[in-house]
Amino acid sequence: MKVFVTGATGYIGGSVAKMLLDSGHIVYGLVRNPDKIDALKELGIEPVLGTLEDTDMLTQYAQISDAVVHTADSDHRMAVETFIAALRGSGKPFLHTSGSSVVGDDARGDIVSQQIYDEETPFTPMDIREDRVAINNRVRRAGIDDGVRSVVMVPSMIYGDALGLPTDSDQLPQIIRKSREMGAGVHVGTGVNRWSNVHIRDLAKLYVLALEKAPSASYFFAENGEESYGDIARSVSWALGFEGRTHSWPAEDAIAELGDWARFAIASNSRVRAVHARNLLGWQPVEESLPDWIRTHLK
Ligand SMILES: NC(=O)c1ccc[n+]([C@@H]2O[C@H](COP(=O)([O-])OP(=O)(O)OC[C@H]3O[C@@H](n4cnc5c(N)ncnc54)[C@H](OP(=O)(O)O)[C@@H]3O)[C@@H](O)[C@H]2O)c1
Repeated sequence: MKVFVTGATGYIGGSVAKMLLDSGHIVYGLVRNPDKIDALKELGIEPVLGTLEDTDMLTQYAQISDAVVHTADSDHRMAVETFIAALRGSGKPFLHTSGSSVVGDDARGDIVSQQIYDEETPFTPMDIREDRVAINNRVRRAGIDDGVRSVVMVPSMIYGDALGLPTDSDQLPQIIRKSREMGAGVHVGTGVNRWSNVHIRDLAKLYVLALEKAPSASYFFAENGEESYGDIARSVSWALGFEGRTHSWPAEDAIAELGDWARFAIASNSRVRAVHARNLLGWQPVEESLPDWIRTHLK
């Protein structure tokens, strides 16, 4: 297949693009920074210079490709509408990337939620996630109303080395950065809040599986385990040589430093189960767990 990937220079998109290439697909990769064109070419990706605002170009590449994998921005409504319009009636796959913070709560690090979500569990999003959920619903509806084989990919906390250009994820790197600064493993509040997680290589394999055989209007959580942020802080602390010492970061300070992102990404609970990926696609994650990855990769 010829696959148009947005976010090809990023963590998810670059990793998915590399996995697609390794699976024998041809990849057109959207790149907005001309300085990154050569690096994409070296990976075997055919660079397409532009941004998510270039609707004519997005339309053109969606139409000359057999599929679109959109990873550049979970919240870019216009890009999603552009792709749906470009692919309308074609039956081609359109994979949109969301994230499991859509089911997140406002625990501020101090509450462990007992609520575990699979793809069928109803939920009401936090205020700051309403727009993202509306986009997910729009993408799924396109699978019913618009003749597009639409798929919503919903990764939890992603860890592991990028497979494409050298980029990084966001939650764990922020915890590591702050832990180095504080000389102790950092968590928000008491750190009892829990998040599911998934290794980037397992996630990239799930995208390829979904591209090849996900049903229309489908929705996939991606996870292979979960941890509390307190346990992540302890693992990070040991790996960085802080001998298990941890530091509680008050939620208001984390939010003051990192904005609302801290509220939904590192202070919340997001406990999900990838039931559809395993049952509908036969996905079998095999990579090392998050604590093992921290122990073996972090210095
Ligand atoms: N990482 C996670 O754990 C995770 C989990 C779930 C969901 N998500 C969501 O998935 C999306 C991608 O995450 P990521 O970790 O892969 O982010 P990332 O590493 O920052 O990659 C984003 C990519 O999209 C490109 N991009 C962004 N806006 C663009 C625009 N307007 N036009 C063209 N290109 C644009 C960036 O280009 P440049 O290289 O030029 O910056 C980069 O290649 C985000 O919306 C994120 O919230 C992430």
